Amino acid sequence: MNLEEAKEYAKKNIHNRPQTTGRLAGKIAVVTGGAQGFGLGIATEMYHEGASVVLADLNVDQAKEAAKAFGDRAVGLKVDVSDPASMEQMVCDAVEHFGGIDIFVSNAGVLKAGSLDDMDPAAFAFVTKVNYIGYFNAAKYASAIMKAQHEADPEQWFDIIQINSKSGLVGSKNNSAYAGGKFGGIGLTQSFALELVSANIKVNSICPGNFYDGPLWSDPERGLFVQYLNAGKVPGAKTVQDVKDYYLSKSPIHRGCTPKDVAKALFYAVEQQFETGQAIPVTGGQTMLN
Ligand SMILES: NC(=O)c1ccc[n+]([C@@H]2O[C@H](COP(=O)([O-])OP(=O)(O)OC[C@H]3O[C@@H](n4cnc5c(N)ncnc54)[C@H](O)[C@@H]3O)[C@@H](O)[C@H]2O)c1
Repeated sequence: MNLEEAKEYAKKNIHNRPQTTGRLAGKIAVVTGGAQGFGLGIATEMYHEGASVVLADLNVDQAKEAAKAFGDRAVGLKVDVSDPASMEQMVCDAVEHFGGIDIFVSNAGVLKAGSLDDMDPAAFAFVTKVNYIGYFNAAKYASAIMKAQHEADPEQWFDIIQINSKSGLVGSKNNSAYAGGKFGGIGLTQSFALELVSANIKVNSICPGNFYDGPLWSDPERGLFVQYLNAGKVPGAKTVQDVKDYYLSKSPIHRGCTPKDVAKALFYAVEQQFETGQAIPVTGGQTMLN
């Protein structure tokens, strides 16, 4: 199915939604980077609230396995969010599978830290391509489907939600590729929100604090705790636990962010009918808005 066919199919199926219950009853959602980490956790919460979910990931085997464990209303699809053709095809495949897209969660992201001296330009471009351009690709093709659905039923609303970061709200030392792309993501969210409101599409970012229990931080070999310990980033830290304690102390609510915390913000963004273009912090008070 190509994009034109997918738009027609989505129009035809606008009232053909699974009869489920919950806060996202009947909704069809796509979550990029859904094979693990925040994406998988958010998709789990969405599924339990009645959504049908596409777990779209570069790691398609893991996405398919996770989808199988969810049940009938989940499917794993391949996508490279940094490649527009791959995003377009995944969006078409999602529509072919479920009949439409009501909520698109642009969650896939990568992190490569480094000072200006250490950061290789190719690494900077890679992070930017996934985190910043990947969000543009997501909004471009998700909105094409949602606009078609809006033509079919002008009463309904749809949501594009970017999983941003607290690093999209305050700078992050020796982490400019990541923070710069996330700041840019908020500019995209505000601009997309202004552009897409005429098609009843709300666009919001959620800015989580650190998910310490997820693989990004806690992977025993490649996780950030181990990397920061080995790099001597936390003065005096001798163990992974020392590094963890240092980071935990930064948040007034003394713990890490969880997918459940992020999902609560996502349900708010979907249910709230009078807000768009916002960046919603979920940081335990570590980052406060001005
Ligand atoms: N982990 C944290 O502490 C934290 C904090 C704030 C914000 N975030 C944001 O949350 C999002 C998810 O982070 P996470 O910690 O769960 O990451 P993760 O590394 O655990 O998972 C990311 C997933 O995205 C997939 N992915 C990577 N590149 C991709 C691409 N080009 N196309 C498709 N899929 C791709 C990976 O295969 C993986 O399944 C990111 O946008 C990240 O910036 C994370």
